[in-house]
Amino acid sequence: MAERVVLAYSGGLDTSVGIGWLHDATGKDVVALAVDVGQGGEDMEDIRQRALDCGAVDAIVVDAKDEFANDFLMPALKANALYQKRYPLVSALSRPVIAKHLAITAKRIGADSVAHGCTGKGNDQVRFEAAVAALAPELTSIAPVRDLALTRDKAIVYAEEHNLPIRQSAKNPYSIDKNVWGRAVETGFLEDPWNAPIEDLYEYTMDPSVAKPADEITIRFEHGIPVAIDGVTLSALAIIEKMNEIAGKHGVGRIDVVEDRLIGIKSREVYEAPAAIALIAAHEALESLTLERDVNRYKRGVESEWANLVYDGLWYSGLKRSLDVFIDDTQRYVSGDIRLKLVGGRAVVTGQKSPQSLYDFSLATYDTGDTFDQSLSKGFIEIWSLPSKISARRDLKG
Ligand code: ARG
Repeated sequence: MAERVVLAYSGGLDTSVGIGWLHDATGKDVVALAVDVGQGGEDMEDIRQRALDCGAVDAIVVDAKDEFANDFLMPALKANALYQKRYPLVSALSRPVIAKHLAITAKRIGADSVAHGCTGKGNDQVRFEAAVAALAPELTSIAPVRDLALTRDKAIVYAEEHNLPIRQSAKNPYSIDKNVWGRAVETGFLEDPWNAPIEDLYEYTMDPSVAKPADEITIRFEHGIPVAIDGVTLSALAIIEKMNEIAGKHGVGRIDVVEDRLIGIKSREVYEAPAAIALIAAHEALESLTLERDVNRYKRGVESEWANLVYDGLWYSGLKRSLDVFIDDTQRYVSGDIRLKLVGGRAVVTGQKSPQSLYDFSLATYDTGDTFDQSLSKGFIEIWSLPSKISARRDLKG
């Protein structure tokens, strides 16, 4: 029996052609694996059938939506994860869950390798292969588009010659990756960073400059995880989906950046991630209310390290695992309610409360009821500024 390779299959042109290319180049039987991470669009059953029609010996669909939300997106939310302070890691978070299913499937069916449709210029090749290496070091990764130099033009010719049932997406000039955490759009006219995005690019968000009445909602968190919207308990996945709808309606989470890829290229990226941006704003506010000053400040540094690791494909790494332990520990008090107002492209926190709140009215108030002994501040400042005073005296002496 021929060796088998499990291909991460999207149903698009590159991975459809990749089935035949992989088989021709390696002699291996190709098993297609389509992982549902909430990308929407086509029916997964249609995608499965297309893989078979394109020559896969078997095609498998995995619904990983809840797993993705619970095990990948919730840790990202607890980490308020934004790469370079802007990008909520939409694609970077989906690769480790897809890679996990590649590895599981490869082991289950006795394949010796896995494959993905990434080019040699992006981050995603690194993420797939680094994740597979960490999960199943015995497997080899093959990247037909990169390793067999499969260009788009060649792919179109191959699909026509072999009569592959591919809906011609050649007209779409953009490279798009999407899942329930957001949508990434690149290439086409966006390759010139001076070109402003056009309304047509967006799918998850409506134009924030078109005025509409604000929506206000209350999100309940338990230990850093959103558990209910307006008193209705929902799964993490359902909360994200609902937030995409409400925040998307107000154009929240449109992001336009020039980003530093791991492989050294700067790329222009347009993202829309309404739920991610609104939930991070809410979660961060609840942390301000419930975390001690030092923990909050230190955590901001950990968060940026966490985002860098995940961006760089190191989801399954020792450092990331250890940072998760720290982050999880900080979340023990991050429970409570955040009221969010969604309007004009923004998610604004308008109310915050928690049984674990560290906000003390009697300490904060300037009105009657003040229990803070202001006279203590005088001595505190004397001691606090003592090192500055001593060194200033030395510097004045010259
Ligand atoms: N630049 C982003 C990242 O590296 C998005 C990549 C999206 N992939 C795509 N094929 N459009 O995470």
